[in-house]
Amino acid sequence: MKDSRPLYKIFSSVPPGYDLINRLFTLRRDERWRRKTALLILEDNPQRIMDLCTGTGDLAMHIAGIAKAGVEITGFDYSRPMLDIAEQKAQKSHAGKIGFVLGDAAEMPFTDGYFDAIGIAFAFRNLTYKNSDSEKFLAEIFRVLRPGGKFVIVESSQPANRLLRFLFHTYTKTMVYYLGSWISGNKTAYRYLANSVIDYFTPVEVRVLLQKSGFAEVRHIPLMGGVAAIHVANKK
Ligand SMILES: C[S@@+](CC[C@H](N)C(=O)[O-])C[C@H]1O[C@@H](n2cnc3c(N)ncnc32)[C@H](O)[C@@H]1O
Repeated sequence: MKDSRPLYKIFSSVPPGYDLINRLFTLRRDERWRRKTALLILEDNPQRIMDLCTGTGDLAMHIAGIAKAGVEITGFDYSRPMLDIAEQKAQKSHAGKIGFVLGDAAEMPFTDGYFDAIGIAFAFRNLTYKNSDSEKFLAEIFRVLRPGGKFVIVESSQPANRLLRFLFHTYTKTMVYYLGSWISGNKTAYRYLANSVIDYFTPVEVRVLLQKSGFAEVRHIPLMGGVAAIHVANKK
């Protein structure tokens, strides 16, 4: 796997306490948001679903817990250590229901239109924030989704309310950065997380980005006053 990308260095190991830190920082809301995302993904009864940048597999496992038997679920990620944890977790609760595939989102090993639905949890920012391959990733997502298919993103966002945005940014700069660095021992990862969350796109900017890549009917659902959001887009 390419190790020239700065982000790959961050994700080529799993920061100790990774799942715990995610739960802590979102006051356990992250799991609720993934479940909501899974429900939106499953709305039109897709048969083939990808959890893109699955990490330790949490979104894929929510989908597996709700989907009807026979639905094909693929967790895709370029970090072997992340996928190892995902596989261990899936063995315990969803044995045989999820296939995990190692690879880069810039070049996915799937045929055109293979998936009926694609979901991504807390990694769209990684693919699009100051990432020179952003257009490539979006073109690949569009390619492997079938016409009529749905793309669902859950990601940090920007609250419209200025006071809430200020409090959210302060919390991210302090708690997320210092506590994350301390628990994980990985300052670089949590500095990147804090900076990218504070500076990330508004819902309108995400919509424009998706529309430029060919997606239609883009809408968003704010979560917890807009500190996060679910974006839903369709491939016409
Ligand atoms: C912040 S984690 C999110 C993981 C998971 N989706 C979750 O909900 O916790 C970002 C994940 O994206 C993966 N990732 C980042 N860039 C990628 C790329 N270009 N191709 C494949 N996976 C990538 C990382 O390896 C990491 O597992």
